[in-house]
Amino acid sequence: MSVLSARGVTRAFDHPDGAVQVLRGVDLDVAAGELVTVSGRSGSGKSALFAVLCGFDTPDAGQVRIGGEPLPAVPAWADCAVLPQAMGLAGELTLAENVALPLRLARRSGVAERVAELLGGLGIEQLADRYPPEVSYGQQQRAALARAVAARPRVLLADEPTAHLDHGSVAAVLGLLRRTAEEGAAVLVATHHDLVHEIADRRLVLTGGRLAPATA
Ligand SMILES: Nc1ncnc2c1ncn2[C@@H]1O[C@H](COP(=O)(O)OP(=O)(O)OP(=O)(O)O)[C@@H](O)[C@H]1O
Ligand SMILES: [Mg+2]
Repeated sequence: MSVLSARGVTRAFDHPDGAVQVLRGVDLDVAAGELVTVSGRSGSGKSALFAVLCGFDTPDAGQVRIGGEPLPAVPAWADCAVLPQAMGLAGELTLAENVALPLRLARRSGVAERVAELLGGLGIEQLADRYPPEVSYGQQQRAALARAVAARPRVLLADEPTAHLDHGSVAAVLGLLRRTAEEGAAVLVATHHDLVHEIADRRLVLTGGRLAPATA
């Protein structure tokens, strides 16, 4: 059964020179345990789609469902967790506190152990007590991914999770994405990176405002 589904999602944005119809009827199904990648040229609407899928934005038409239920206005992190393209770490919290946040919101036990496991696995454990502006973009990106997966969400949306990373860090991030799917999450990843497509169960491309199976 599909954990994340979308039907007929449309979204247009107003611009000074006229409205731009970015999403034109997106249909999507991602099952538990499945890792699906979305490619598409820059500006095709991948981030706009992710914003609708996690409730950051409201579509003009169409529905999004998580576990068969309509997406609530403010989804819980443990239901739908996001790694936004702009990362969105809280600047007033350390990296460790950022990663702990969804665990605390979900009232989970073993917070310190889970935070240490994630930061260690991504090679940033020595930065646990630093604040986001004190670390590089690639280090922020890994912390933002650790935060997104921390509470073992039912749905993970990762927007360009390898955009700022060196080769060694890419391998750690790919391992974590794959493991998150194997632990049962429905994982959707927007990426331009061939190595990410290689670990996918299915590859989609966003073109003309709709999702289609990737041909190559
Ligand atoms: N909040 C917004 N207000 C106005 N226009 C927007 C908004 N969000 C997205 N757009 C427009 O929608 C289009 C798609 O943008 P989006 O960021 O989704 O592309 P993308 O596929 O994620 O690109 P990239 O690969 O560069 O990340 C662009 O033309 C952009 O200007
Ligand atoms: Mg984008």
